[in-house]
Amino acid sequence: MASHTAGKSVSVAGREHTFNVFRGDKEHGELVDYTIELSEGMVVLDAIHQIQATEAPDLACRWNCKAGKCGSCSAEINGKPRLMCMTRMDQVVDEGPTTIKPMKTFPVIKDLATDVSFNYRAAKKVPALDPKPKDERGEWTMYQYEVDRIQEFRKCIECFLCQNTCHVLRDHQEVGFAGPRFIMRAAQYEMHPMDQADRIDVVKEELGIGYCNINKCCTDVCPEGINITDNAIIPLKERVVDRVYDPVMGLWRKLTASET
Ligand code: SF4
Ligand code: F3S
Ligand code: FES
Repeated sequence: MASHTAGKSVSVAGREHTFNVFRGDKEHGELVDYTIELSEGMVVLDAIHQIQATEAPDLACRWNCKAGKCGSCSAEINGKPRLMCMTRMDQVVDEGPTTIKPMKTFPVIKDLATDVSFNYRAAKKVPALDPKPKDERGEWTMYQYEVDRIQEFRKCIECFLCQNTCHVLRDHQEVGFAGPRFIMRAAQYEMHPMDQADRIDVVKEELGIGYCNINKCCTDVCPEGINITDNAIIPLKERVVDRVYDPVMGLWRKLTASET
């Protein structure tokens, strides 16, 4: 394996490398140094496993797939929110000792494992898909362009790196913002051609979309490359604005509500 810094290739195999790993719980903790020998093709998660095998068998971390698909191994690597299994050592070896900390936004359970239950509570606020009745042929018919618009959102691996990075959740969880991942889930259902539910009031009141100031950090860290801000959040913001501030639509809703 080789890293490329300013055009120079650097092999990592056989190199001694130090990791500063957070050890502790939500009350107290510290960075502990571990030095191991790197091997060919290593990713940060391999290093954690090697540290567990040789020096710290009680070091807690989550992982499942080691393929960037389960979303379990999210962490702050040298201060950047990333998946440990998708961060190759040759990408970070030249930055000096590698610091590995748990995600900042969620409470630490132990070492690198955080309590992400906030996200499961937020998920419950998004009304589920409400499919339209099938047509006279007993089928749902949808156009490819309609499918394409929401397909991107289905790539989400629920790593919660976007949630971890959004400054609203990081600093002001108390305001009730559900976060980019769950605004995106609402968008996925709202844009679904076969859905008949109306989530716009929920998006505004329960998911708190108004707290997003479109700073796009969520999009920047998404390991699936989903354009969360432009393709999910902004279109939903537009729908909320149309609903809340369009006087013609407001009048129409009042009239139709009084008829029922
Ligand atoms: Fe992770 Fe991206 Fe899904 Fe957010 S949208 S949870 S960053 S995969
Ligand atoms: Fe947060 Fe993403 Fe909006 S980082 S502020 S949800 S654009
Ligand atoms: Fe599954 Fe990293 S171990 S995404």
